[in-house]
Amino acid sequence: MFAKETYMERRSKLKKSVGEGLLLFLGNDECGSNYADNTYAFRQDSTFLYFFGLPYAGLCAVIDIDNDREIIFGDELTIDAIVWMGTQPTLKEKSEAAGIREVLPYKELENYLKAAQQKKQQIHYLPTYRAEHQIKLLAWLGVLPGAERPSVPFIMAVVNQRIYKSEEEIAEIEKACTVTAEMHLAAMRTVRPGIKESVVSAAVEEAAFRHNYGLSFPTIATINGQTLHNHDHSHLIKSGDMLLLDAGAETEMGYAGDMSSTMPADRKFTPRQKAVYDVQVAGHEAAVAALRPGIPFVDVYELTCKVIMQGMKDLGFAKGNVDDAVAAGACAMFMPHGLGHMMGLDVHDMENLGEVYVGYNGKPKSTQFGRKSLRLARELEPGFVFTIEPGIYFIPELIDLWKSEHKFAEFLNYDKLEQYKDFGGIRNEEDYLITADGARRMGPRIPIHTEEVEAEHC
Ligand code: GLY
Ligand code: MN
Repeated sequence: MFAKETYMERRSKLKKSVGEGLLLFLGNDECGSNYADNTYAFRQDSTFLYFFGLPYAGLCAVIDIDNDREIIFGDELTIDAIVWMGTQPTLKEKSEAAGIREVLPYKELENYLKAAQQKKQQIHYLPTYRAEHQIKLLAWLGVLPGAERPSVPFIMAVVNQRIYKSEEEIAEIEKACTVTAEMHLAAMRTVRPGIKESVVSAAVEEAAFRHNYGLSFPTIATINGQTLHNHDHSHLIKSGDMLLLDAGAETEMGYAGDMSSTMPADRKFTPRQKAVYDVQVAGHEAAVAALRPGIPFVDVYELTCKVIMQGMKDLGFAKGNVDDAVAAGACAMFMPHGLGHMMGLDVHDMENLGEVYVGYNGKPKSTQFGRKSLRLARELEPGFVFTIEPGIYFIPELIDLWKSEHKFAEFLNYDKLEQYKDFGGIRNEEDYLITADGARRMGPRIPIHTEEVEAEHC
């Protein structure tokens, strides 16, 4: 945890922003995978972590702005729990580390909320993302699952704090990114023909676990990089394959790193692979060069799409006017996802609070295929931390569908695309902080140019 003053200052700012009512924070519970005591790895809710720092299951918190109270609701461990889990500080001591003096038994929360309802106090809560959150809102506030009305002032206030990373948070993210870079180097030094993808993913995850770090999301280590979120590690890697790795570490305090790299199974990329890879890197480097405070991230996305579309035109995959092709949405044939996302206590930071609030500052999103997957579009500001992750993919089903519809026939060369249905996908991803006058890479640079990746190869 950070010093208690950090959490006290964050809560004080939040109270001022929301102004009145009662703020309810739903901490997370343990969750059984195949029976109650065999649990998934516990992960505290990130907003709870941000304002209270307590990484323990079975807690909720209330900031009662109207009555100037901050309360942790939870139960002290029983002797049975201590026998199985060992000596621990009391909940009161743990809460004091976050600057909270009032701790009440968990069962009292229901009465506290019902009394607040009777007094017609406004009860603010955030969007739910677990069934247990919904059940609690039903039991305590009578809110039916699916009929929740999260508080927009609460969401906006939380987003407007969490979105600007403090110096101590930046230091944590830097640690996550340093270990994330080690994970990618481990893959480059392990990948070769004749081993399974799982051998690479094991080396990658070992690089995080040896620091006692966790994973910020499930590892993607696949020879089928054209499938964007592919968590299958069962394939044998063959000569001529490329492996796409998207993996990140999470520090003990919960801060994320997130990087992607693409490496050949053999010691060198084939000329066919290198030609497309270089276009992807050109798009990546154009995006990085454009980063500065004040630029709308959607403009960085448009610029990257144009560089990729021009590169694909030079290789014969695309034709026609590049600007028109990008405006029409034809670039989504190659890159059907966005350019990046915020990163912090969540790898997709605050995604549960709503992309429109986090990435679009309340403005509407495009519904166009490809553009609609842009998670971040707003103007960049100092203190923002986010990813840059363009990619180029050959997705056989998308080629078949659009070809059958003659979609963008004026911009795409389907004869050439047909020849690349076995190609896979390429993505490189780095993490950046916007500074007062530009941008800074988080963590060390990982190999990105083909010759740099080849030099790391085992
Ligand atoms: N690292 C996975 C993603 O950004 O979606
Ligand atoms: Mn990412």
